[in-house]
Amino acid sequence: MPDRECELCMSDIPAPDSPNAFLSARGDRHFDGLADKFEASLYGHLRGELRLSLLDRLLPEMLDLQGQPMLDVGAGLGQQAAWFVERGHAVTLAEPAAEMLERARQGISSLAAGSSASYVTAPLQELAEQAPGPWPLVVCHAVLEWLADPRAGLQHLASLMAPGGQLSLMVFNRDALRMSNVVKGNLEKALADRLEGKGQRQRLTPISPLTHDQLMVWAEQLGLQFEAVAGIRVFHDYLRRPPETDGDVETLFELEHRYCRSEPHWRLGRYLLYTFRRAEPEESPQ
Ligand SMILES: C[S@@+](CC[C@H](N)C(=O)[O-])C[C@H]1O[C@@H](n2cnc3c(N)ncnc32)[C@H](O)[C@@H]1O
Repeated sequence: MPDRECELCMSDIPAPDSPNAFLSARGDRHFDGLADKFEASLYGHLRGELRLSLLDRLLPEMLDLQGQPMLDVGAGLGQQAAWFVERGHAVTLAEPAAEMLERARQGISSLAAGSSASYVTAPLQELAEQAPGPWPLVVCHAVLEWLADPRAGLQHLASLMAPGGQLSLMVFNRDALRMSNVVKGNLEKALADRLEGKGQRQRLTPISPLTHDQLMVWAEQLGLQFEAVAGIRVFHDYLRRPPETDGDVETLFELEHRYCRSEPHWRLGRYLLYTFRRAEPEESPQ
């Protein structure tokens, strides 16, 4: 039976020495060769429009935005970076897939403030050398779930943050993936808890979907203070019929906005959006 719960359909450029030809040498899924597919699968679709609409309202609520310099890790096609550029932040985009970053550069350079952005072609694991900061604001949206070792990824993010700085972290929610599989009829897969993609061939789900509990434990271990959480797409991905009219779309968006931070709905958002703050060092006694 075909897998009816594939977030994105994609290919990758093989890493020569990788045991899995679709993954990087570290076992991560870089989006080389995927710019068109990613754009069409997400941002060319209602789900992408909804994500950007929610983030447009949530980021000013969840972050202390004062035009501070910002590092966007795994910046993809640059939609989120463009949002920050338009609000006066000096943005550095880091992305290992050169084609994705080039598309981002093309989009951002057409903005009035676009010349203020900088670009680094590198994975998260190399940013301590290539964009060390420390950064008052780090954004990492929908990236950890594409890493073989997402906890180590979070540790790298924490090390890039200035004391007192904030991290806007968005991750693909494993619990929502289970729910969605059941709703769509992939019952055996859900029962066996075979939820993650294997990172092979052209169709896959993220290789490391994460749970809220995992994130909270790791954040505490790494000295990141939890400040806020929201669910991104708490209803959209469970619909039995897509919205048919503009009025239906408007109503769905209103529902998503209204319940994205409410119990119990945020917990089943397709993505979980967090704000964490890096603790200030404690003052030593005189
Ligand atoms: C689903 S896309 C998200 C892009 C963008 N952040 C957004 O929200 O639209 C995941 C991105 O993570 C990037 N990525 C994969 N492994 C990475 C790594 N080790 N370090 C940084 N980025 C990585 C991919 O190349 C891809 O562009």
